[in-house]
Amino acid sequence: MARDKIAVIGAGHVGATAAHWMAQRHLGDIVLVDVAEGIPQGKALDLEEASPLAPWDERISGTQDLAQIRGAGMVVLTAGAVRKPGMSRDDLLAVNRRIVEDVARGVAEQAPEACLLVVTNPVDVMTYLAWRTSGFPAARVFGMAGVLDSTRFRTFLARELGVSVRDVSAFVLGGHGDQMVPLVRYSYAGGIPVQQLLPPDTIQRLVERTRSGGGEIVSLLKSGSAYYAPGASIAEMVEAVLRDQRRILPTVARVAGEYGERDIYVGVPAVLGEGGVRRVLEIELNEEERQDFAASAAAVRRVLAQLG
Ligand code: 2OP
Repeated sequence: MARDKIAVIGAGHVGATAAHWMAQRHLGDIVLVDVAEGIPQGKALDLEEASPLAPWDERISGTQDLAQIRGAGMVVLTAGAVRKPGMSRDDLLAVNRRIVEDVARGVAEQAPEACLLVVTNPVDVMTYLAWRTSGFPAARVFGMAGVLDSTRFRTFLARELGVSVRDVSAFVLGGHGDQMVPLVRYSYAGGIPVQQLLPPDTIQRLVERTRSGGGEIVSLLKSGSAYYAPGASIAEMVEAVLRDQRRILPTVARVAGEYGERDIYVGVPAVLGEGGVRRVLEIELNEEERQDFAASAAAVRRVLAQLG
């Protein structure tokens, strides 16, 4: 059976780290694409040279030529500027919009059957833009945010409880910004609601830390933003699609009336499998969660309005 082909556009830290995690999971041959001369080739060669030790037989190559993505079933879009300390994800809109539009057009031309996973920030708006520009069906264009936000929340909960991260599940909905909505009521450790295991003020502290999780890394790194956990989150979503796993993962997906929202892309639970987003799941929210979700969606809408 032919191996899947995955294209990663943008060979910065996030793109290259995603390639590393995906190679380790044997998800397919990987093409790294970047405008910077030599960078994708250098990182791809470095990863290739690790293959006997890893070991993996999947091929990893680098190029400046977008035509090399031809035949890819999955395209991951990580290209774009990242935040500096003090910046919000929304501050990246003007610079990243042109990149996302260019790439989405190129992907539509070179890989018209592919699924497109958008990572570039502000991700909710960039995913919408990629969908609109590519002309792809909404199911095939989706974004990565909630898997990352949820893995951060799971880590903080597990460390606080002193238990294995494997036993902690959590869900973060809404836009990938300070108004994201970590759903405490849907967070469990070993099947036990975390609210039975931790006091409310502790949970609130972890919720706040999750909301500013990306910013915490930005201020520590000073230049650049997170990439190990984002890369692993990308691999999780790509695997779900390419292996048709039908995973329920928080996904930046197009809503059509779910949660009272339509015509935007925002973080919601979705079933990911062959062909991309197979279904958006609508879960029951209490009044406070509903209001938080609406506020988060409104924040996404405000940035979307700036696109024109
Ligand atoms: C983060 O949350 C880069 O937005 C990404 O770290």
